[in-house]
Amino acid sequence: MERNPLVFLMIVGFANLIFIHVYGEDSQEGLLLDGRYREQIRKMQAFKASFVRHDSVPSTSPSPNLAPAPAPRSAIRPHEYRVTSYGADPTGETDSTEALMKAVADAFGGPKVGFLMEGISNLGGARINLEGGNYMIRRPLRMPEAGTGNFVIHGGTIRASDDFPTDGYLIDLSASSGSQNEESKASNNTDAQLSSSSPYNYEYVTLKDLMLDCNHRGGGISIINSLRTSIDNCYIAHFTSNGILVQGGHEAYIRNSFLGQQITAGGDKGERNFSGTAINLMGNDNAVTDVVIFSAAVGVMISGQANTLSGVHCYNKATGFGGTGIYLKLPGLTQTRIVNCYMDYTGIVAEDPVQLHISSSFFLGDAFILLKSINGVAKGVNIVDNMFCGYNKGIEIVQLDESKGPFKQIDQVVIDRNNVRGMNMKSTAARGSLQANGSSWTIDFSPILLFPNLINHVQYTFSSNGSGLFPNHALRNVSQNRVLIESDVAVPATVFVTVDQGVAS
Ligand SMILES: *[C@@H]1O[C@H](CO)[C@@H](O)[C@H](O)[C@H]1NC(C)=O
Ligand SMILES: *[C@@H]1O[C@H](CO)[C@@H](O)[C@H](O)[C@H]1NC(C)=O
Ligand SMILES: *[C@@H]1O[C@H](CO)[C@@H](O)[C@H](O)[C@H]1NC(C)=O
Ligand SMILES: *[C@@H]1O[C@H](CO)[C@@H](O)[C@H](O)[C@H]1NC(C)=O
Ligand SMILES: *[C@@H]1O[C@H](CO)[C@@H](O)[C@H](O)[C@H]1NC(C)=O
Repeated sequence: MERNPLVFLMIVGFANLIFIHVYGEDSQEGLLLDGRYREQIRKMQAFKASFVRHDSVPSTSPSPNLAPAPAPRSAIRPHEYRVTSYGADPTGETDSTEALMKAVADAFGGPKVGFLMEGISNLGGARINLEGGNYMIRRPLRMPEAGTGNFVIHGGTIRASDDFPTDGYLIDLSASSGSQNEESKASNNTDAQLSSSSPYNYEYVTLKDLMLDCNHRGGGISIINSLRTSIDNCYIAHFTSNGILVQGGHEAYIRNSFLGQQITAGGDKGERNFSGTAINLMGNDNAVTDVVIFSAAVGVMISGQANTLSGVHCYNKATGFGGTGIYLKLPGLTQTRIVNCYMDYTGIVAEDPVQLHISSSFFLGDAFILLKSINGVAKGVNIVDNMFCGYNKGIEIVQLDESKGPFKQIDQVVIDRNNVRGMNMKSTAARGSLQANGSSWTIDFSPILLFPNLINHVQYTFSSNGSGLFPNHALRNVSQNRVLIESDVAVPATVFVTVDQGVAS
């Protein structure tokens, strides 16, 4: 009872809130509005209008919801370019190349907000909206003008026509200045001239929520010499060359995406014939995170340094059929981190690895890691804390390909602490013990050590008791990955030995 006044006050308070809310949302007339409020409403209307504006509406606008907005002020420019209002056909039946290119050209010609990197004009987040449509194109969507940044292409499907050029990419972020592209010539303005001052083509381009169907002709996305590109939630299928190609530039971030040459969920009858590369990184400092690659001859091909892969699930083509999950083609300077990945019947190949880290990953179905000698160099390699699982066929978890010559320069290679089920353990560090009554103990580490005839470091413990003798003993021979300990008299003893191939000699 004593709380009644408070409750009453609260009710009054709520009533006020509700009243104010209604007043703010719906009542524009019949109430006294101060000038500030009117100004806010006007701004909001103008803001809403800015979302449905575009610069070059074709006379036959197919979109009914593009009713004329209140006369937009010239100061407020559009940020969203809806492709159907440029005549793109969202049913995918007719060619939408021109319409999509017009939308892109309009975005590129839209308001600019200074610069990102020097020479990269800032489109301020312009959005090219595919409006959930399915568009067929006959030519690559090649971005018109280099030296541009901060724009988004999102929200729909793009499919290559049956006559799409087989060397093309559906979305092509390569500088097209001076090439076949007409739009680039149209925009001969100050920004375009300034763009030549940047060593990069594009910066901060986001390709998001897209399905790209290459229709077995060419590739999905090509990112040439660009900076800070984001590919997010894309599904790229039916490529023949590369699903995504990154060449030069840096910081292409590919995340939360699905790539497959054929649409399959594994166990595909045509798996032997899968070809193409899902992601081809020919540049530095890129990241592939949380990506599934479900069909391709090579899942991720890397030939640039300082790339990182995390959460990548490869079941693109089984090793047994000639597939590779991740191929590191940077002999002599690898500088790649692969963590938390799932190599599903397909493994990792690294040519002359120098600075390579593979950890916390799961290798299933006899998938393994192959170190391939080119000039015989393996330095700074960590393959640790992974899980391997196979079918008791004697497949080793890490293997050497020395067909081009043996590994000769081996330094700081650590392959250890992996757990193994149904495959053969390989390691660069090993422990063993042997109990015998005698004067010589030989422990053979060759089944487990990765590199043949290489032991850089040995430690042993000689444990002998109860025989009444206190023998002299010594490490007598280390050769062919075998360790020999001898004593001067025969005694019952257990010898414990630890060896290491990885320590620098
Ligand atoms: C572009 O601008 C330059 C000079 O600013 C001019 O010489 C050239 O003709 C222009 N090109 C086109 C295609 O308009
Ligand atoms: C694989 O390709 C070969 C030759 O191109 C063809 O003969 C065979 O039928 C294909 N296999 C499948 C399962 O598609
Ligand atoms: C160990 O072997 C020697 C001869 O080689 C023998 O005399 C001795 O009894 C053995 N000791 C034990 C504990 O078996
Ligand atoms: C060490 O053992 C190997 C055979 O494993 C032998 O060829 C070599 O001569 C031995 N070295 C010494 C110093 O006894
Ligand atoms: C002697 O050493 C062996 C291992 O080398 C061990 O099994 C045994 O228990 C030891 N005996 C005594 C009395 O310590």
